[in-house]
Amino acid sequence: MPAPNIDTIVSLAKRRGFVFPSSEVYGGLGSAWDYGPLGVELCNNVKQSWWRWLVYERDDIEGVDSSIILNRTVWKYSGHEATFHDPLVDCRECKTRLRADKLELPSDTAEGADVVNLIKEKLVKCPNCGSTDLTEPRPFNMMLRTTLGAASADDDPTALAYLRPETAQGIFINFLNVQTTMRRKLPFGIAQVGKSFRNEITPGNFILRTREFEQMEMEYFVKPDAEHFKLVDEWVEQYMEWFVGLGLGKENLSLHEVPPNELAHYSKRTVDIMYRYFPERPDEERQWEELMGIAYRTDFDLRSHSNKPADEEGKRVNPDSTEDLSYFDEAIKQRFYPHVIEPAAGVNRTVLAVLMDAYSERTNEKGETRVILKLSPQLAPIKAAILPLAKNKPEIVGMAKAVKRSLQPVLRAVYDDTGGIGKLYARQDEIGTPFCVTVDHQSLEDEAVTVRDRDTWEQERVKVSDLAEHLQKKLKP
Ligand code: GAP
Repeated sequence: MPAPNIDTIVSLAKRRGFVFPSSEVYGGLGSAWDYGPLGVELCNNVKQSWWRWLVYERDDIEGVDSSIILNRTVWKYSGHEATFHDPLVDCRECKTRLRADKLELPSDTAEGADVVNLIKEKLVKCPNCGSTDLTEPRPFNMMLRTTLGAASADDDPTALAYLRPETAQGIFINFLNVQTTMRRKLPFGIAQVGKSFRNEITPGNFILRTREFEQMEMEYFVKPDAEHFKLVDEWVEQYMEWFVGLGLGKENLSLHEVPPNELAHYSKRTVDIMYRYFPERPDEERQWEELMGIAYRTDFDLRSHSNKPADEEGKRVNPDSTEDLSYFDEAIKQRFYPHVIEPAAGVNRTVLAVLMDAYSERTNEKGETRVILKLSPQLAPIKAAILPLAKNKPEIVGMAKAVKRSLQPVLRAVYDDTGGIGKLYARQDEIGTPFCVTVDHQSLEDEAVTVRDRDTWEQERVKVSDLAEHLQKKLKP
């Protein structure tokens, strides 16, 4: 039974130290969130799982970590300055700013109807106040701006820079660096994980849509005559398997083929993997939101950033670039711009999906309902909690602390004696700790401890000398 709605996770996340509203001591900052002690571990575990899967376990992918702030020209030739827009609409009545493509249209709207006309005909309502007095949509560039250099004035165009809206461009501009230093032949990929920033008009729904977020992107470079659409399907399949391996239920994942008129400026085909973030909505179609997208980006980016391509009149399309990012294929003695398949996933959206899917409730014999977070062991922030049965017995406390110290080099373990054993178990269940290890009076005699399983609540006795190996075996994905 996954979480009934996102709000259930918001409250669990705050109560248990996963995610806190940001800047709370100053009244908060809309749609900004801080990851607490457990949240940072969960995020790191998601990123590590992704990195291990792509960069370590495969033989055809390298990693990079590029700057967040790149030369502004990157965003000119990537097309983001001209086209990275959302259609902005204002409600004249309550002054709310809205995204035209997210407005709810009247139920009898014909397919393909133009939102601009519907707004003009006053058929679209402001979701905030219900007024139909809305402005016509106008493009709003979503890149967050900053200025570089101590001496720069705020409006100095030569000092203007952007916080990257996608990690992908840092990969494209390093394509040749990676290909030549690592002596790579096509096909091969470059992966990057890191922060991206977008000045979203309507952020919200907890960590689903924020202005600062993390992406896990991979650009897979292939030949121009590869079967690009088939490769998109193959990557979709592999990511579906990866998400299921992280614990997401198949019934909560679906695919969405992005219609041609909604494709990003660089894409010939995009398939989104959707997650059921809104199970409470009666209309099944409205339960889904994008978890990630897999796009066929053609050779658009490498070509755009290269100094060679020319227009019909022979004029260089990019007079600012100093390099040609083409690839020489030794086997066929030809030079070309590789084409790209791009799986682009969000860390925060993955974390939210993982938390929602892991949420479950169980009633004990006393009739009390407990929350159990059935996180996959590889993602659980804490793998084992070491609990003394009697905190006033120095020998038991000493042994429990020693057990914790002995486990810490091989897995993330904590010691806790801040409540009765029932409360301690409940606390660990709620944060998804797969195992509780209890040290009792008997342990002092037989050098053994009780290991309790989070999901079954079954207990078994294990020798302290075997404990690390025993837990490691059980924690293996
Ligand atoms: N390079 C391609 C690209 O950036 P995208 O579909 O715009 O594609 C990829 O973004 C993923 O990044 C999304 O599927 C989502 O998981 C995440 N993402 C995008 N915008 C986000 C936002 N405002 N807040 C949280 N995650 C976001």
